Amino acid sequence: MLKTKKNENKSPEVIIDPDNSNSIEVKDLRKIYTSKKVIEEVKAVDGITFQVKKGEIFGLLGPNGAGKTTIINILSGLISPTEGTAVVGGHNVKTELKMIKELIGLCPQKAAAFKFLTGIENIEFFGNLHLMSKKEINERAEKLLKLLGLFEASKRKVKGYSGGMLRQLNLLVALINEPRILFLDEPTVGMDPRVRRKTWGFISSLKNQNITIILTTHYIEEAEALCDRVAIIDYGKLIALGSPKKLMEEHKSKNLEEVFLKITGRRILEGI
Ligand SMILES: Nc1ncnc2c1ncn2[C@@H]1O[C@H](COP(=O)(O)OP(=O)(O)O)[C@@H](O)[C@H]1O
Ligand SMILES: [Mg+2]
Repeated sequence: MLKTKKNENKSPEVIIDPDNSNSIEVKDLRKIYTSKKVIEEVKAVDGITFQVKKGEIFGLLGPNGAGKTTIINILSGLISPTEGTAVVGGHNVKTELKMIKELIGLCPQKAAAFKFLTGIENIEFFGNLHLMSKKEINERAEKLLKLLGLFEASKRKVKGYSGGMLRQLNLLVALINEPRILFLDEPTVGMDPRVRRKTWGFISSLKNQNITIILTTHYIEEAEALCDRVAIIDYGKLIALGSPKKLMEEHKSKNLEEVFLKITGRRILEGI
């Protein structure tokens, strides 16, 4: 994992993960977007460092444009970082993407499905991409569909699904290959409060399977309800890190919204 070599004359040895308990390690990560059309560069991720423990639900909480999706996209190999290191399941995103892809599941911010296929046909399509057998796909899909209350709906074409059902289908697809590490980018956007709570219960239950989860959200209650620890992100920088309880105690606040307000002078939803 991330180590720097021992150097007697300079700084002492730094071992971030001596007991190999981390699932994800991010160090000084930067993503700078430049464009010929736009003179100013965008520092989407501006020097972020954090570690996620195995089996942890780790939240990236921050307003729109904070850099949450950019971090998820780097960790899942969709884009490459400008600088810094990111290690996922022991593999470096710059050099070992193939290995990483076998370990992870991704529920992207923008839900994606074939509208003229049924839910189960969509699941089969993505299961096939993971080279799973039809039997494996169907067994796993049935279990997950029943847990999410989507079993009957899965026989219908996706074009008739509500926004919330589409997000649930995406969540299920992200789990079809039994990933050890799961990235959920705004997983409950578009869900009504009842379905959102049900989905929270489902995501919590994944902890029993020892899956490591990074979840992005701008819903404060979602971060408080689900996450063991949260990184609060603003303008590409990490401004606070810890369990919701610890952050609230540290900043003498009654919720994470107040923590954000105390640090930045703004409310999280003001940026949206
Ligand atoms: N492909 C891109 N080109 C230029 N700027 C981008 C691109 N993708 C994201 N950004 C910018 O990077 C910043 C972070 O975006 P993003 O990671 O999507 O934030 P979040 O997910 O927290 O809402 C924003 O200012 C956004 O406009
Ligand atoms: Mg986003």
